[in-house]
Amino acid sequence: MRKLPKSFRLAMGIMLANVTLSASAQDPQTERDYQVPLPPAPSGDAVFQPPLESAIPDNQYGDMVRKGRDLFVDTQQLRGTHVFNEQNCSNCHLDAGRMANSAPMWAAFGMYPAYRGKNDKVNTLAERIQGCFTYSMNGIPPETGSESLVALETYFHWLATGAPVNQAMPGRGYAKLETPQGGYDPERGAQVYAEQCAVCHGSDGAGQKVGDRQVFPPLWGDGAYNWGAGMHRVNTAAAFIKANMPLGKPYSLSDEDAWDVAAFINSHERPQDPRRRGMESLEATDRTFHQHSGYYGDDVGGQRLGDHDNYGANPGSGD
Ligand code: HEC
Ligand code: HEC
Repeated sequence: MRKLPKSFRLAMGIMLANVTLSASAQDPQTERDYQVPLPPAPSGDAVFQPPLESAIPDNQYGDMVRKGRDLFVDTQQLRGTHVFNEQNCSNCHLDAGRMANSAPMWAAFGMYPAYRGKNDKVNTLAERIQGCFTYSMNGIPPETGSESLVALETYFHWLATGAPVNQAMPGRGYAKLETPQGGYDPERGAQVYAEQCAVCHGSDGAGQKVGDRQVFPPLWGDGAYNWGAGMHRVNTAAAFIKANMPLGKPYSLSDEDAWDVAAFINSHERPQDPRRRGMESLEATDRTFHQHSGYYGDDVGGQRLGDHDNYGANPGSGD
């Protein structure tokens, strides 16, 4: 092979480096990872106790803690600016983010920043929170440093008073639930749903309102978490449901019933995955972001799930 002049090789090198750089800056994969399952929490009883709310200090720090708590349980305060569905953070992080095995915030706080191999990046707590805004709240995340984000971070910091830093605690995330030997089946799940869930979440999955207030959250449809949210994965929903639903009766469902009903809920339509906006097709979105146990892009009842441009009420940013 003929040797190329050094200046030419140098120029090529710089060009190639630029191509790689700009590709990774725009690559949707950099955003890919925010909703992948958390690493499993260590086993054992969740013994950590966050402080009592009556212990929130009476100073400016305490004011910010209270603001964060109020936002966490009534995230609808940000409706139309950062939230475009009917959810509050505490719908999936129960008891205002205090409940073990309900992805509690005291267990999350000390685990960030966290390096994630998949997007090859160190993710901050702010970015993790922003991920839940984009997907679980079908929203537009508040900016880093904005009062809403600082308030949420301050609330989590206070909840984690006395917790170890950079050491996973039992009770983090949702405890993993093994896939049943016989697999799972949304049709069986429909029956579980009718018997145990519809009373609160509605037979149409839209939940229930009292006046303007959503008292039971929607599980599918325009008001629910979107196709990019962690909860749309069957395994994640099954683990959450086993430990937390029906409300007030944790661990009452068999593992099979939890998987079946999770599959039933998650084989219904919901707002489009926001990453679809930057992708050329449903297939490409499915291939890039949905290599897991979910129904996105699948045919269910003669209909292809996710094959629409309904982003719920989210107008998108800048288009
Ligand atoms: C529709 C359900 C849902 C809603 C609503 C929701 N989240 Fe989450 N959140 C999840 C799931 C699922 C995970 C990942 C848990 C897993 O994979 O085990 C998660 C994880 C997190 C984590 C990381 C937990 C950890 O231990 O690393 C934080 C922080 C978080 N959410 C904050 C929020 C905030 C703040 C809001 C409101 C703006 C919110 N979430 C709303 C479902 C939800
Ligand atoms: C007694 C009423 C009630 C029953 C029965 C009930 N839920 Fe819930 N569910 C709730 C409430 C309330 C929340 C939100 C928790 C909160 O805000 O504290 C919730 C939250 C959820 C969530 C979190 C996701 C989201 O979008 O908010 C899922 C998933 C869920 N329920 C599934 C189920 C399933 C499956 C069943 C049946 C096995 C069930 N629920 C039975 C009241 C109920």
